[in-house]
Amino acid sequence: VTDGAPRDDGRPLVDFDHHSPDFHRNRHAEWAELRRCPVAWNERHGGFWVVSGYDEVATVSREWETYSSRHTREPEDGVTWLGIAGIPRGRSIPTAGIAEVEGPVHVALRRIINTHLAPPAVARMRPLMEAAARWFLDDHVESGRMDLVLDYANPVPAILTMHLVGIPLDDWEHYADFFHATIAHRPGDPEFDRAVANYPTMLARLGEEAAARRADPGDDLLSALVRMDVDGRPLTDDELRSVLWNLVGGGLDTTTSLTALSLLHLGTHPELRAALVERPDLLPTATDEFLRFFSVNETLTRTVARDAELGGQCLARGDHLMLSWLSANRDPAVFERPDEVVLDRAPNPHLAFGVGRHRCIGMHLARTLFQVLVTEVLTRIPDYAVEPGATQRYAGNPELNGVVRMPVTFTPGPRLGPAERPF
Ligand code: HEM
Repeated sequence: VTDGAPRDDGRPLVDFDHHSPDFHRNRHAEWAELRRCPVAWNERHGGFWVVSGYDEVATVSREWETYSSRHTREPEDGVTWLGIAGIPRGRSIPTAGIAEVEGPVHVALRRIINTHLAPPAVARMRPLMEAAARWFLDDHVESGRMDLVLDYANPVPAILTMHLVGIPLDDWEHYADFFHATIAHRPGDPEFDRAVANYPTMLARLGEEAAARRADPGDDLLSALVRMDVDGRPLTDDELRSVLWNLVGGGLDTTTSLTALSLLHLGTHPELRAALVERPDLLPTATDEFLRFFSVNETLTRTVARDAELGGQCLARGDHLMLSWLSANRDPAVFERPDEVVLDRAPNPHLAFGVGRHRCIGMHLARTLFQVLVTEVLTRIPDYAVEPGATQRYAGNPELNGVVRMPVTFTPGPRLGPAERPF
């Protein structure tokens, strides 16, 4: 990272490549350096603004009319609407049907989806969360050994996401594997390529589910989406598939990663684990602290929709911009001891779920599910020991952080049942 020296047109210049393994390895130090100039220009990958300060990141995500999330396949009015999913945007990434639309369609979608993800709806899902967490732990609890990612933090959110949308629970493995493999590995890696090859089949399967609900609606979210009316018309098949893809993708690897990274941290910081076992009442503040600390969705992107001033810099319509939730959440101007996990941190105005119109619509589900998953582990296998050599982290995805696999050993315990799968 350079120090923000101005270039000819006055834009303060920084130089880094967020796709390089070196940047990824040292990213906390790199972001601290970048925050010295919280809005700066990087000429790599076609040129983009990098926004790293807390206030500036919050402004960008609140002012959605100026900093647009739109994605279009072709430029419109001379502007390439980049969407939110990275610079450069991977060609295999489809448009996110909720996160990358603006205006009346976005508002209508949020209204409908929110009824299925607001706190009362999440409370109704809690018994399923607990049953699924117990079931997947039961599978291994007598053996004293399991993989806390592959056997636990990956399947449970997948089951909940299937339930939320209203698609068959037995399909969970296809979706969980797809998102875990394509987020954890980089394009060109055999695991990534294997998983991505399944994309057309899965999209077609979602299309079939949607068609079945059009013919025979129920009371699930998918039925509400096929019935919905946007400006006097239903969603097109393309729109519907991309909303479903966004919901399934949003629900899957995010909560998995938050849970996995937190259990890894607790497994390697005995004093924090002991504190949480002794005082379960700390779990609500600890949840937001782990959200802040890991910011599993580390960065996203926007397109400048109209000329604007931000952090003393002049941004022009059509400019691309990367915002770092991770950097905002470690900004020492807002958080004391930002690089430490403080289980009882309050207030904790972190931006891990974004802020403004596009704020995470799954945040209540994510928080509750995280708490159910962590509680089940800390009460049933509290002495789990992480096998550090066998734990593998994500390969360096600049947008999402997480753990590929995390084998642990523990004192075996009894199954809690039931013997038959209860969901
Ligand atoms: C730890 C868990 C999670 C994290 C850290 C997270 C993070 C985020 C962030 C940062 C955004 C804002 C995007 C933006 O401003 O462009 C977002 C949006 C979104 N999230 Fe989450 N998310 C999580 C869990 C979930 C879950 C469980 C679901 C679904 C069940 C979900 C579905 C969505 C959707 C649909 C959006 C787009 C909302 C919109 O644009 O209106 N997320 N999420």
